[in-house]
Amino acid sequence: MEAPEAKTTASLFLQTLGGASSTIPPMWFMRQAGRYLPEYRALREKAGSFLDLCFSPDMASEVTLQPIDRFDLDAAILFADILLIPHALGQSLSFVAGEGPQLAPPTRAADLDAYQKRDVVEPLSPVFETVRKTRERLADDKALIGFAGAPWTVATYMLEGRSSRDPSVLRLRYYQDPDFITSLMAILVDKTVDYLIAQIDAGADAIQLFDTWAGGLPRDVLKVLSLDPMMAISKAVKKARPDTPVIMFPKGVGEKAVDYALSPQTDAIGVDTAMEPSWAREYLSRHTVVQGGLDPLVVVAGGDMMREAVSAILNQFDGAPYIFNLGHGFVPATPPEHVADLVAYVRSGDWRSAKKDARR
Ligand code: CP3
Repeated sequence: MEAPEAKTTASLFLQTLGGASSTIPPMWFMRQAGRYLPEYRALREKAGSFLDLCFSPDMASEVTLQPIDRFDLDAAILFADILLIPHALGQSLSFVAGEGPQLAPPTRAADLDAYQKRDVVEPLSPVFETVRKTRERLADDKALIGFAGAPWTVATYMLEGRSSRDPSVLRLRYYQDPDFITSLMAILVDKTVDYLIAQIDAGADAIQLFDTWAGGLPRDVLKVLSLDPMMAISKAVKKARPDTPVIMFPKGVGEKAVDYALSPQTDAIGVDTAMEPSWAREYLSRHTVVQGGLDPLVVVAGGDMMREAVSAILNQFDGAPYIFNLGHGFVPATPPEHVADLVAYVRSGDWRSAKKDARR
């Protein structure tokens, strides 16, 4: 795709989503707010539970802004969770330390009617208040990203009651009872559209859809369970709010990422750790904006190992509209000083000379 040079006014992140390239790419990081930051851990303790933190707009807004204050990133991502939708649909949710989310009881066919009738916007109003407060406090040249889980990933949690230890369980369930799964997904599409439109109306500048468990699905099944529902959400959101870009993150789909990149509903595609940057540059950048790719674990290691990985990615995407990010979220063991080094290295532009040195 032909990439005009980005202007320096307004948000570089949004200009890049519009298809502009820049000498230094805009950047933000998945899980940029979280347990690796001492200031997050302090507020998290004050809030009591993770859900209390998500539903306290003052604190959630502060947590959203913590990584911006510390690292001057180009975009903030709303502090919330993909599991707030099942919670708003009436499925009890708790986060157990060391074990992750627990939803109980798992969703059954009999629950679907009740879900369909449920409004998610009213119970999630504290989230929109967080968006409003954050947008007010955020500089004009910084973007605020709203988000939701893609229906397939959210469904895995709803049906298993916790993080899926084996995604094949649900894939089999789809083959055995496709109507139940696709009915649940259709409900999640509708509810997610309502939720995202309310985030945009409160001030979100862009949206990201996370499909963490999209990997491992055969292409025709992936279309039904991941691609079509994500595109249906984006289409409905864009119909209602045409100017909001939507970033798709179908994790682990490999070469099938092209199907997502080709859709007019996709403004950008997130690439994961396993995807070869040269492949993404060749087969995804020609259709859409690319985001991400850096292994979050090299940031735990830091130093030359991290700089070499960053240089390899950035030189690959040089000249294309590209948003620097990870291939999945930061892990709690990430030293914040390494993140500061990472940001400084990307902004320095030294990764360009690193490429020349390597060629000598
Ligand atoms: O900074 C940000 O990225 C914004 C906030 C955000 C969180 N979760 C906060 C969070 C976002 C965008 C998410 C998305 C999310 N949540 C996904 C998709 C992306 C991905 O990571 O794959 C998924 C699958 C979830 C579900 C979820 N939430 C799990 C599995 C867990 C437990 C795992 C863990 O890391 O403990 C959560 C909890 C969660 N969501 C935390 C944070 C900061 C940690 C909770 C804590 O503070 O105790």
